[in-house]
Formats: sequence, C-alpha cells, structure tokens
Amino acid sequence: MNTNKLKKGSFNKNILTQEQLNIHTYPEQEKIPSVLEVPKSTNSKLSKFNDIDLNRWKEYEEIITDSLWLLGKRDNSGVHTGELHGNFIPQIPHQAMLRYTKQGEIVLDTFLGSGTTLIECKRIGRNGIGIELLPDLVKRAKELIAQESNLHNVKTSVIEGDNTENKTIENVKKTLNENYNSDTVQLIIMHPPYHDIIKFSDNPNDLCNTKTTDEFLNKFSQVVKNTYPLLDEKRFLVLVIGDKYSQSEWVPLSFYTMQKVLENGYKLKSIVIKNISGNRAKRNAEQLWRRRALSGGFYIFKHEYILFFQKR
Ligand SMILES: C[S@@+](CC[C@H](N)C(=O)[O-])C[C@H]1O[C@@H](n2cnc3c(N)ncnc32)[C@H](O)[C@@H]1O
Repeated sequence: MNTNKLKKGSFNKNILTQEQLNIHTYPEQEKIPSVLEVPKSTNSKLSKFNDIDLNRWKEYEEIITDSLWLLGKRDNSGVHTGELHGNFIPQIPHQAMLRYTKQGEIVLDTFLGSGTTLIECKRIGRNGIGIELLPDLVKRAKELIAQESNLHNVKTSVIEGDNTENKTIENVKKTLNENYNSDTVQLIIMHPPYHDIIKFSDNPNDLCNTKTTDEFLNKFSQVVKNTYPLLDEKRFLVLVIGDKYSQSEWVPLSFYTMQKVLENGYKLKSIVIKNISGNRAKRNAEQLWRRRALSGGFYIFKHEYILFFQKR
C-alpha cells in the first residue's frame, strides 16, 4: 500500500517513513566541507559573517538550514571522541562555524569540556579559544587538540578558569591581544552543564553544582555578560542546552537560559531542535524509561536545543 496516498483521517498500521513525513536526516559529516572547496564565483556574493558565496548556494549541500536537526551518529573521525560523558557531537560546532564565521576568524567556547570545538576549529580553519574550569579536562582537551593536524595553520588556546570570574575573562583578553593580535572574537559557543543532570566535578564553581535553578541561571547569565564585550557587533552566540526533570516537573532550562541571553544584549535568530540518539546501552535503559514515562505521565527527552542569537 502506498502510504503517500492515505486519505485524510484514515488510519495506517504501517509506520510512515521519514520521507513520507517529509523529515530529512542529515548525512554524516563530510570530509572537507564544500564551503572550503567550492571556488568562489567571479562576482561572488559573500555575506559579512561566513564564506558562503550566495551565487553558488546550491553547491553547499552540507549546510543545514532547517530548524529540525536529525543528525546521524556522532562524528568520531580523527581525534574526536565521545569519551567525556556530556560532550556535544562535533557536527554542532562544525555547522555553527561554517554558517557564522569566515576562515581565519576567532571562536570562543566558554565551556570547552574535552575540546570538541577547538578540534573542529583546526579541521576547518578557524582560530579558537576555550575556557574550562577543570584541570583534568584542560589537560585532556590540550592533548586531543594537539593530536589534530593543523592544515590551515590556525591558533588554539585552552584557558583554565572559572568563566564567571573577571580574572578568567582578563586572561582571555590577554591571550587575544598577545597571540591573536585582536580584542574581539567573531563567534561565541556555549554548551553549559544542563544544571545538575551530569556531575562533572565536585568543584563548587562548576555550574553543575549550583544549588538551585535560579543560582544556575544567575551564573550562566554572568558568563553571557562577561563575554558580551568580547564579541564583535552583529556577530553570533550559539547556545546548546537541554531541559531537565525535577520532582515530577519538566524544567525548561533551554527557555530560561534563552531569556538570560536575550536580556543581555542579543536578539534571537533561530531555535533549532536536535535529536538525541542513544547508543545500545542507552536503548536498554530506554525501555525502563518508557515504563516510567507511561506511569508518571511524562514524555522522554529525545531532543535538545541549539539556540542562535545575534549581538544587537
Ligand atoms: C556540557 S560540558 C561541555 C562539553 C563540550 N562541549 C565538549 O564537547 O566536550 C560543560 C563543561 O563546562 C565546564 N564548566 C562548568 N562550570 C564551569 C565554569 N564555571 N567555568 C568554566 N567551565 C565550566 C564543565 O567542567 C564541563 O566540562
């Protein structure tokens, strides 16, 4: 039976395919993005904040422009690794940087973790600075970043520190001045802990150890304020975040943090919903969650948010 021809209101036992539902699953990450490879046209029409030649827009197939990202498995190529529980898949900074920076520009990741953003910077030719609180993660991120080859000859720096503190921001400024000959960056990426759902450490300055949602949001807001002067006018901030449950309640951390960014000099450009796809171990746990969801009257998290803001 051709399910495309279902009459309105009719019921089909067969599950509709993604194609029939008009849902596009994005391909695995390409080796060299066409934005780097496609030669610019003679009268190239370039935007102010990326290398996309609008005269050749049809050739940039890897660039996602829909607000629903159904990404396949994580890009584990090269030194990219999923070893840090709670790191994001490289496709996220990859897409953000292709869309919102030009080659050679500078990206700041304020919650660097295991260094995914800076590894990706080296791959596609962006300079990058990352802030990370935990010394062990700083060490590991530096190791991984150093292993990635530097074909585009970019600079990367990992700064150990608490991103809510002025002295860390002063360190970023000093690094920018001394190593990058600049006062500002052209893209900020933030992937904070989703409050307390993963315990990254016992460090009291770790946002995962804030006692309440309000305290978490105040600290997050401080990071947005601290880094605001570092970003060039009209450039972009990308926030990756998910929601949480607490005491039988859905806590929309994504909407709360979005509000904090909006209150601090940014306008919202897009809300992207990204799928969370589990590994085999998670799939077993999923059966348990399904049982809990049915009895508790809630839905299981299958998505997180990528929020795109522009500095006013
Ligand atoms: C969700 S993880 C980021 C993962 C990262 N995107 C990656 O791919 O590896 C959040 C990170 O923020 C760090 N962090 C938490 N509080 C911080 C703070 N106050 N200053 C700097 N880093 C902090 C944690 O140690 C953790 O590594």
